[in-house]
Amino acid sequence: MSSSHMDNIPSTPGKFKMEKSPYIHRFRLHYSSLAKLTFWSFVFMGLILVFFFKSPSSKSTSSSSSSDLSRRSLKTTSWGGPVWEKRVKSSARIRTRNGFSVLVTGAAGFVGTHVSVALKRRGDGVLGLDNFNDYYDPNLKRSRQSLLERSGIFIVEGDINDVALLNKLFDLNPFTHVVHLAAQAGVRYAMENPSSYVHSNIAGFVNLLETCKNSNPQPAIIWASSSSVYGLNTKVPFSEKDRTDQPASLYAATKKAGEEIAHTYNHIYGLSLTGLRFFTVYGPWGRPDMAYFFFTKDILRGKSIPIFEAANHGTVARDFTYIDDIVKGCLGALDTAEKSTGSGGKKRGPAQLRVFNLGNTSPVPVSDLVSILERLLKVKAKRVVMKLPRNGDVQFTHANISFARREFGYKPTTDLQTGLKKFVRWYLSYYGSGKKSEQ
Ligand SMILES: *[C@@H]1O[C@H](CO)[C@@H](O)[C@H](O)[C@H]1NC(C)=O
Repeated sequence: MSSSHMDNIPSTPGKFKMEKSPYIHRFRLHYSSLAKLTFWSFVFMGLILVFFFKSPSSKSTSSSSSSDLSRRSLKTTSWGGPVWEKRVKSSARIRTRNGFSVLVTGAAGFVGTHVSVALKRRGDGVLGLDNFNDYYDPNLKRSRQSLLERSGIFIVEGDINDVALLNKLFDLNPFTHVVHLAAQAGVRYAMENPSSYVHSNIAGFVNLLETCKNSNPQPAIIWASSSSVYGLNTKVPFSEKDRTDQPASLYAATKKAGEEIAHTYNHIYGLSLTGLRFFTVYGPWGRPDMAYFFFTKDILRGKSIPIFEAANHGTVARDFTYIDDIVKGCLGALDTAEKSTGSGGKKRGPAQLRVFNLGNTSPVPVSDLVSILERLLKVKAKRVVMKLPRNGDVQFTHANISFARREFGYKPTTDLQTGLKKFVRWYLSYYGSGKKSEQ
């Protein structure tokens, strides 16, 4: 049901019907030449289609790149019907006085799962939306979905690019808030599959904002930007007012584009928008494409792990932020979000527009991360020191969080040692010591 332009192309060229148009009937003289022209145009289109569908699959030789955009967005999802509608309404229903009704996109994702559970626990209505794509192991997303189901949270299977679906959800339930976490993540994967970043982080975001702007009442929107927007900045700690015009990856560029798009929708339509720049979020139920996660897997298997260093043996460090602190930040942003001011697609007054850093404010060298993992796993890592490639990763991240502290008392409390201990405990209980994590 996605509105991607690729969905409009039939999967088999043979499905094209050769229909005689009234035009052809009226100009019989030209019929044969027109028929020839039509025939050859179909042959040509057929060739284009064959090329179009062959090229991505021939590129995806390694297993990790098999999740190209075309394959993923061609997957049809079904939604609708009375049973489905009942589940949507029941999940979104507010269960406490002054509670919110929140649509969480990317609800089967790492941050999405934790935020959804936290909202539900305090009595807010929560409806999830997720397309369950295979950028990383979908089994992990399904396990998170089971976790949410046990808390009474329904995840609608669908894409944020599906306009009809988004409109249907807002027709069924007047959401007070949207927590928009659905995105194509990952910094290096952007070189393999650039269009998936444009598809999710730009086109998908615009689709969502269009639906929000048209709905009555308009919801307030809290959405995931990224610390990667600071790009090649060298001034630390990173503050919200620092420049963000030197992204080092397409991922960062699409998140920066999102911030500018947010400005536009706030300015024209009065949508209340809050962007959150997350700094290297980690913890139980995390993303397998992140270093702390696959380091754990590889250390347990005796596989060597690459440790990057910058020029002149410079230390690569990250402001690792534990998931519970991020959840507190998301809820703080949600609770201080003002109402959108537009209605009927028109702005009625100035609306709130904010951007916050959500970090931990204590960068840790990646080699220290590995030492902590070694101690927790009781296995020595095979370290291979390599030069930091210039393909998206930056040397250093460090958040200045004083703005979030001032606005909603954001104060991270979990250090890397404590947080990794909780992660490793989860990892071992979920995967054992290395069998289930095959993909
Ligand atoms: C952190 O950001 C605030 C503005 O939010 C600024 O006043 C302060 O000087 C910054 N701190 C540092 C250490 O850069």
